[in-house]
Amino acid sequence: MRILNAIPNRRAIAMLDIAETDDVLELGFGPGHALRALARRAIRGSVTGIDQSATMLAAARAHNRRAIAEGQMRLLHGSFERIPLANASIDKILAVNIAYFISPLGHSLDEARRVLRPGGLMSLYVTDYSAMRWAQFAGPETYQMFDAAGLRAFLRASPFAEDRVTIHRIRLPLGFRGLVAAIRKN
Ligand SMILES: C[S@@+](CC[C@H](N)C(=O)[O-])C[C@H]1O[C@@H](n2cnc3c(N)ncnc32)[C@H](O)[C@@H]1O
Repeated sequence: MRILNAIPNRRAIAMLDIAETDDVLELGFGPGHALRALARRAIRGSVTGIDQSATMLAAARAHNRRAIAEGQMRLLHGSFERIPLANASIDKILAVNIAYFISPLGHSLDEARRVLRPGGLMSLYVTDYSAMRWAQFAGPETYQMFDAAGLRAFLRASPFAEDRVTIHRIRLPLGFRGLVAAIRKN
């Protein structure tokens, strides 16, 4: 599973084309492996992460002790539906494997768009459910699974509706497929 997560994170991070001075935010960082890769790129900028799980926060803090101690990284315990950052203060947002937990009826990405600078970029990865209907991934907290059309419809109904969206398909081991949306805020 770790490898299956590593590839999407790598691709989603590459898509962000992070500059050394970028201020980067990760939504739902989980164990915090991607945070480390973000910190290696934004070496003169900053990395902020927000996750609602105390367990994940502890794991991510342990993984990223150095960047946190040096003041480059800040990890927050809370929901990405309430992000304690100023408007237009972030250049890039990484959002990998979190969209399943976002209610299609809610406005869970309002805050992500608010904190993103005009011209800023978010990359959002989901596994393509149409390539793995045989697998049981949907748990009790899962709102939805995606195929490419579903992801496009989801983003069209989101606060990013008027922004530029490109969806890329990626191949993963074991026949899995993924979708990475690059969303550029106008
Ligand atoms: C499937 S994990 C993905 C972790 C990581 N991004 C990765 O790719 O390995 C989803 C993470 O999102 C977090 N999460 C889900 N909904 C959230 C919300 N509304 N606010 C903050 N974190 C949330 C969970 O706690 C979990 O750590």
